[in-house]
Amino acid sequence: MVTLWVVNACSSLGIGLAGCGTVGSGVWNTLACNGALITERAGGDFHLHISKILVRDPSKSRDITGQVPDGIFTTDWRALVADPAVHIVVELIGGTGDAFEIVAAALRAGKPVVTGNKALLAERGVELFALSKETQTPIHFEAAVAGGIPIIRIVQDSFIGNRILSFYGIINGTSNYILDRMTEVSLSFEAALAEAQALGYAEAHPALDVNGWDAAHKAILLATLAYGFPIDPASIHVSGIEQVRPADIHFAKTLGYVVKLLAVIREHPDGAVELRIQPSFVAKSSILASVHGVFNAIAVQGDAAGEALFYGRGAGQNPTASAVVADLVEAARSLGQSSGHRGFLPYRESGRMLPVGETSTAYYVRFDVTDRPGVIAEIAGILADHRIGISGTHSPVNPTDPDAEFVDMVFLLHTCPFGKLQAALSKIETLDCVNSCPVVFRIESLG
Ligand code: NAP
Ligand code: HSE
Repeated sequence: MVTLWVVNACSSLGIGLAGCGTVGSGVWNTLACNGALITERAGGDFHLHISKILVRDPSKSRDITGQVPDGIFTTDWRALVADPAVHIVVELIGGTGDAFEIVAAALRAGKPVVTGNKALLAERGVELFALSKETQTPIHFEAAVAGGIPIIRIVQDSFIGNRILSFYGIINGTSNYILDRMTEVSLSFEAALAEAQALGYAEAHPALDVNGWDAAHKAILLATLAYGFPIDPASIHVSGIEQVRPADIHFAKTLGYVVKLLAVIREHPDGAVELRIQPSFVAKSSILASVHGVFNAIAVQGDAAGEALFYGRGAGQNPTASAVVADLVEAARSLGQSSGHRGFLPYRESGRMLPVGETSTAYYVRFDVTDRPGVIAEIAGILADHRIGISGTHSPVNPTDPDAEFVDMVFLLHTCPFGKLQAALSKIETLDCVNSCPVVFRIESLG
């Protein structure tokens, strides 16, 4: 049954907060600090308060300020959704299992949903947005992409009069933090990841951060909004930062680049949408090279507005809570209005995703080779057979063992379709002198 809430002068609106971890605690604290200000800014129409909190372990100590009413915690999500004192449901538990059930149940009950769960919306958004439309109950998801940067509103509202030609940038704070720490202070990958986890930037399953899928989920949401059709996660190319070694950071520095995990989304003139996530070399002089730590940066190009760049904290407790609270206010304002849909309404049934083999850039390729004469010529010969130009090669002497049997050999390659490079690499891999799969990063000339 769908309930339409009637909002009277200064209604006290109850929030069911599903999840009180990093972001959920931030939402509690932000409302505790700024609740009165929010009510003033809402013209005194409503006051937001958290009336129920769903957690796994109610006995856990939590970093939340002020008095916590007795009985506020529950482990039963059905009770939270069904509670008549809950008018808006905030989903911050993560994952695609219970989170799906909570969001679906809230929509069926006519309770607007606010979520920061990009995995849920990218993987199961088709079902949830259809339910949102059917029940005329909105899903707000500003916190799902780029933490404190209001990029969803920019695409939904500010750029609504534009065809969006492209997005590119850094949309995973954890990866950027790790690469930055490896670059700036030579920290190991593992130590940098541990720091990002301690700072509350990483996902509960940090594999999603380092394998590129957290960025991919966000990119799917951006592309879905921009191009109007649901995007199958299986149709996109995703590669994460797990393969980045100190050697790559070193080569990048030597060659005038910085390694970044980039998202590239672009509509081609024939309507095909390119969407890829991969570690990339960007010039040291580029804007993206100066995006440090947990910061994100997203460039959006509209046909009318031209290019605009958005920069801010892409993860962490307070920036993400800020986005959740903004959505809560919007949800509160639209309570009782059936026209206030803020989720995704597809306006194209389907669209064509550009196969990754047809995407073109220049490349950095690192080979692990046997250190003997003729290796460069053997690799270069196969690249030449595939008509792939070489702009440079580099092979440092191993400083710790100058007599090492194996060395890293780096090739910088001219722009060519990725499919052509893959064909050449599958031949190169069969050479006796090549010891493991080559590592490929894009060289991007964006920004
Ligand atoms: P988190 O710190 O791991 O917190 C998760 C919370 O959900 C905890 O309070 C946990 O309870 C509760 N929970 C998890 N599974 C549950 C279940 N099945 N039933 C009941 N309670 C459950 O996660 P987070 O970092 O706050 O992230 C939450 C969501 O926000 C995720 O979707 C994430 O992708 C998204 N997000 C996070 C960030 C960020 O910077 N961290 C930024 C943007 C978006 P206990 O406390 O009892 O364990
Ligand atoms: N783990 C995510 C990140 C959180 O590091 O970007 C923000 O979505």
